[in-house]
Amino acid sequence: MNFKEKYGQYALITGASSGIGEAFAKQLAKKGLDLILVARRKERLEKLSSELEKKHKIKAIALAVDLLSNDFLREIREVTDPLKVGLLVSNAGMMYIGNYLDNSLENDLRMIDLNVKVPAILTHHFVQKMIERRRGGIIYTASILGFMGTPFSSIYAGTKAHEIVKGEGLAYELKPKGIDVLVLNPGLTETEMTSGNDFSAMPMKLMKPDLVAKSAVNALGKKVLVTPGFMNNVLVWMSKRIMSRKMNTKMFGMLMAKTF
Ligand SMILES: NC(=O)c1ccc[n+]([C@@H]2O[C@H](COP(=O)([O-])OP(=O)(O)OC[C@H]3O[C@@H](n4cnc5c(N)ncnc54)[C@H](OP(=O)(O)O)[C@@H]3O)[C@@H](O)[C@H]2O)c1
Repeated sequence: MNFKEKYGQYALITGASSGIGEAFAKQLAKKGLDLILVARRKERLEKLSSELEKKHKIKAIALAVDLLSNDFLREIREVTDPLKVGLLVSNAGMMYIGNYLDNSLENDLRMIDLNVKVPAILTHHFVQKMIERRRGGIIYTASILGFMGTPFSSIYAGTKAHEIVKGEGLAYELKPKGIDVLVLNPGLTETEMTSGNDFSAMPMKLMKPDLVAKSAVNALGKKVLVTPGFMNNVLVWMSKRIMSRKMNTKMFGMLMAKTF
């Protein structure tokens, strides 16, 4: 089975209006998949969908939805119920960097909803038809910060740890049913999310979103966890093989303190 037969006809990508999600849309259009692009900014989604339709002769649907609204799944289902969604790219997310108490509880809870609850709802819905068809895939965009306690971004890192652990478990459970699960763990990436902070003290450079998304598309079906970029891999390797969890947290505490 080729990529399109295994993961087509449609890929639904959340957070497709910018950054890594937009890059996923470009990579998956190249593979010939039709797309459902989800985010709040409709004009951006419409511009991207018409560009990709022209360039790759695919169908791309711009679906403006606020994933933090209570009935977001109903809005998504109105469009997707008649379609064959073979790939879910759960990528939309929000991050906070700063002193813990400078972020409101309300914002922490929105972050937990968008980064954890929304992917859980989308997975539960879309995996059912994938299981019936005995084929499909799910990609979760987590983060290398999910591998360690991360001071000044503790709640965010916790949400990403959830995605990593959930993805590992689901990958094992769903593989015999024909579904591939991949957790993408980017390091610093040049997107709107990182535009407001100074990461010059970090040991790695910001990566381009296209390279990050491409590494996930290439790894789907072959791996469960993928970390793009040489320095990010060195860091993850050191964090697992050389340093204790306490040392990792201390190092990241010192680095993160310089970013805001
Ligand atoms: N950039 C990094 O260094 C980095 C590193 C590791 C992991 N990540 C992860 O990568 C993923 C993508 O982030 P990014 O770096 O590409 O940042 P980004 O450019 O800010 O993209 C975030 C996307 O999420 C969408 N979004 C946010 N809130 C939403 C909502 N309520 N409803 C619907 N869509 C919403 C945004 O679209 P609208 O504003 O149009 O709704 C946007 O398309 C996130 O999960 C992030 O945690 C990023």
